[in-house]
Order: sequence, then C-alpha cells, then structure tokens
Amino acid sequence: MNTDIKDLIDNDKEFQKIIYPLITNETVLQMKNFRQHYETSCFDHCYMASYYCFLICKKYNLDYKSITRAAMLHDLFLYDWRKRQPGRKGLHAFTHGKTACENACKIFNLSKKEKDIILKHMWPVTPQFPTSIEGFILTFVDKYCALSETFEVLKSRLFMRKAFRYAYLFLSLIIIKL
Ligand SMILES: [Fe+2]
Ligand SMILES: [Fe+2]
Repeated sequence: MNTDIKDLIDNDKEFQKIIYPLITNETVLQMKNFRQHYETSCFDHCYMASYYCFLICKKYNLDYKSITRAAMLHDLFLYDWRKRQPGRKGLHAFTHGKTACENACKIFNLSKKEKDIILKHMWPVTPQFPTSIEGFILTFVDKYCALSETFEVLKSRLFMRKAFRYAYLFLSLIIIKL
C-alpha cells in the first residue's frame, strides 16, 4: 500500500474509531498472512476498500459505519485462494463471500445489512444483488481496489524492465569506450 495513503488512513480519527475493534482482532489480523492481488494482502485490500467506502458514504450521508465494518470483513476467508483447498466446494469467486460472512459472524455481532454487504460483494460475478446502496458501493470500490492493486504491480514491473534496459545500454557504452 502506498505509504502516503496509509498515513492518511491511519490518521483519520473517525475512521479509526469505527475500525479499531476490527483491525485489532486476532482473526482479522490473520488476513495479513494471505495475498489478495499480487503483493497486496487481504488485510490491506480490505483496509483500503473500507476507507474508500467510508469516505464515499460519509460524503453522501449514507450508513458509513455499517459499510466501513462490512468492507473491512468482506474478504475474511483466511486461505490462499490460488491453491486448491481440500474439502472446499465451489470456485473461490462464487463462494468466498459466504465464507467471509460466516467467519465474521463467529467473532462479531453483525447487523442484517452488514451481513448482506459481505455476502453479496461479488455482484455481478455472483447474481445476488446487494439489498442496500452501501452494498452496491462496496461492489464497485472492491473492483476499483483490485484493479489499482494489479495496475500498481504491472506499472512497477514495466518500470523495472525499462530500468534494466537503460542499465544494460549504459554498461554496454562503458565497455565499448574501454
Ligand atoms: Fe472478495
Ligand atoms: Fe475484495
């Protein structure tokens, strides 16, 4: 995660007040051990999504507390989704909303709306429509975060490739001059 954005999020007192009981929970902290998109952990992905949802819903006078909590828990599946999980049925993309919701319900007292936001965050990949506007907001913010996490890595890889090319050219010129 970009350090400037992380500092901004860490210093937003209102957001931190809502999210603190979640991000200090042992089970939620385990999300740091699983990669979501490229180098981004599930924890950072949810933390980022949660903050964007918080900002949008606060600006438009929506239920920003529920969405902040639900977004932080929306990918609480706690396994490496790239590897086949013994005993797990169904494709990750279609089933992890339910898994995350079940895991979250074991540790937090979630409202009906928060459960619905988590369960249906994969819309339109899964056909169930979220029943709240906040639920729809998470579906878009989630996709935006996934794209930006992927784009960041591709951009840095492209930069590295360019840097190597220039370094190679530079070294070749030195060798030719010798
Ligand atoms: Fe997800
Ligand atoms: Fe997600």
